[in-house]
Amino acid sequence: MRKLRVKIFLYGASEVIRYAVCRKKRRRIFAAMEFKMNINEIKDQICDICHKMWQLGWVAANDGNVSVRLDDGTFLATPTGVSKSFITPDILVRINDKGEVLEAAEGRRPSSEIKMHLKCYSERPDVGAVLHAHPPTATGYAVANKALDEYTMIESVIAIGSVPVTPYGTPSTDEVPEAIAPYLQEHDVMLLQNHGALTVGADLITAYYRMETLELFAKISLTAHLLGGAQEISRENIDRLCNMRAQYGVTGKHPGYKKYNK
Ligand code: 13P
Repeated sequence: MRKLRVKIFLYGASEVIRYAVCRKKRRRIFAAMEFKMNINEIKDQICDICHKMWQLGWVAANDGNVSVRLDDGTFLATPTGVSKSFITPDILVRINDKGEVLEAAEGRRPSSEIKMHLKCYSERPDVGAVLHAHPPTATGYAVANKALDEYTMIESVIAIGSVPVTPYGTPSTDEVPEAIAPYLQEHDVMLLQNHGALTVGADLITAYYRMETLELFAKISLTAHLLGGAQEISRENIDRLCNMRAQYGVTGKHPGYKKYNK
């Protein structure tokens, strides 16, 4: 207060008010610039992840979609009908929480699976990114309608736990978000029956790592089964591994010890 009085004495009240208004405006301009820079970085990151998904053979043709929640509550999403190898920052679409387009290059519409993505965000305020792909081994389990629910490999026990197969849903319809909703409170990783895989994360890299972990675990599980069957970790050690998530700073949800296959 004393400082303010000194300033008014030295420069006059109108000058002090003008300066304060300018400072507020400057702060707003800097915040907008920072948001813009942030969006550009996120756009680059989405493109990197899309290219990786294609290089890894997790998607063919226009398969797969990616979205990210932005600080202002809007979302960036991949456009529908584009190979993930051809995604560039300028064709990403910005939408609101109803899926309405806020910004898009001419002729671009958000992914046809955007309802599934928005369901993840509305059910899980902790989720900042959603990834959908068809990694072939994990999708093999989705097609065979077999959950990946064996607690056999240390890393996957800690990172994702069991992975359920969510009920069949016709792509792009409300059936898909309805099918995944009951699983979202316990799982960050899901198989979509006869379709593919879905991962969520606090950020895009986390969601991407979960897809990597899922596909590697699916390959290892399949190999173990070809060798005569996987050996489960003891229940006591499974619980110890699950409790290590806090120590490693793992974010998101974990189902604990949960079996889905009959
Ligand atoms: P989009 O091209 O509309 O994102 O659809 C791809 C897909 O994988 C549908 O499940």
